[in-house]
Amino acid sequence: MDRIETTLKQEEIHSPSQLGQERRLFLPGVSPLTESLGRATILLVDHVAINRQLIKGILKAGPYRLLEARTAAEAFAILDSEPVDLIIAELIMGDGGRTYGGQEFCTAVKANRRTRLIPILIITSVQGIDNEVSVLESGADEFLIKPLQPAAVRTRIRTMLRNKRAIDSLEEAETILFALAQTVEQRDKETGNHCQRLASLSVALGTALGLPEEDLVALYRGGYLHDIGKIAVPDSILFKRGELNEEEWVVMRSHTIKGEEICRPMRSLAPVLPIIRNHHEKWDGSGYPDGLAGEQIPLLSRILQLSDIYDALTSRRSYKSAYSPEAAISMLQKEAEQGWRDPELVSVFCEMVRQPNFVANSAALFAPDYEDESETAELRSMRESLARMSREVLK
Ligand SMILES: [Fe+2]
Repeated sequence: MDRIETTLKQEEIHSPSQLGQERRLFLPGVSPLTESLGRATILLVDHVAINRQLIKGILKAGPYRLLEARTAAEAFAILDSEPVDLIIAELIMGDGGRTYGGQEFCTAVKANRRTRLIPILIITSVQGIDNEVSVLESGADEFLIKPLQPAAVRTRIRTMLRNKRAIDSLEEAETILFALAQTVEQRDKETGNHCQRLASLSVALGTALGLPEEDLVALYRGGYLHDIGKIAVPDSILFKRGELNEEEWVVMRSHTIKGEEICRPMRSLAPVLPIIRNHHEKWDGSGYPDGLAGEQIPLLSRILQLSDIYDALTSRRSYKSAYSPEAAISMLQKEAEQGWRDPELVSVFCEMVRQPNFVANSAALFAPDYEDESETAELRSMRESLARMSREVLK
């Protein structure tokens, strides 16, 4: 850390006009890898030079790369062209002669898909709980009132950056798992974008049932991750032509438990674990791995299972042509009559897929330009994040 501290010089504090030059800047003694992992980029937004100088003084010993903007407009220009880890902004902003409110600035940053996860620390000399509440409600993450205590500022910033890094690494770890799941799927060249369709179908059914956001997110993730345990199943079994013998079935069935083991270390995936483990259970208790019956089978597992079967039936394979939606519906209904599937859920599912434009609507749910004004910011953010991951791993 000491070595990095000593490299933080005045020339590294940039105005927007210097940004192009800054990208080529070489930091003596700091490799690009060290730089990207160890140094957070902080954007200071304040129209008063002395205030920016004060913050720079407080942070000068830290491993930070500081960018400066005098106005909200300059700040947005930097945010458009630079990855930023934290914003420190004065509540009253200068913006080309007019006053730009910090609340307005926070709202604009949090409304932008690219910048909404950047934490914002607002600094002001305006006292009063009303002011504090209105700033936090506008999207600011923290609030400090002048006179600033340097130690308190540094601690607050370290905490905010630690949280930001945790979010970033969570997203990276999930991207790796999603890529792994995609690799598993691509071993079977026939399935195409089965996971993506499965995710869309499952979320559509969850939405039709009025499930809460966290369940919809779990269903979406489950669409990708449910068969990740097949990474532990050899090709000779996974793609065997003809019947599997009993030993091979044991290996094949183990993909549910292996998948759960792979995803268990990630706490954010806890809601997805029952889907992964129990997506081959049957309503009459004859499924695997736990032989659960009826409502003992988690609802999200039952939802994913119906979507999985429907998608497999309506997709073409080398050994079969694609069934029509009506034929697939009647096969699902037969399985419900046999006692294998939840009859009420089958009935809601069939009603849903019979709706006009159902396929187009469910696929549109994860399109980049999808808009739904009633959707909460949290669900939108997670959905977009997952959609981005899925696009990245599908490249
Ligand atoms: Fe499976």
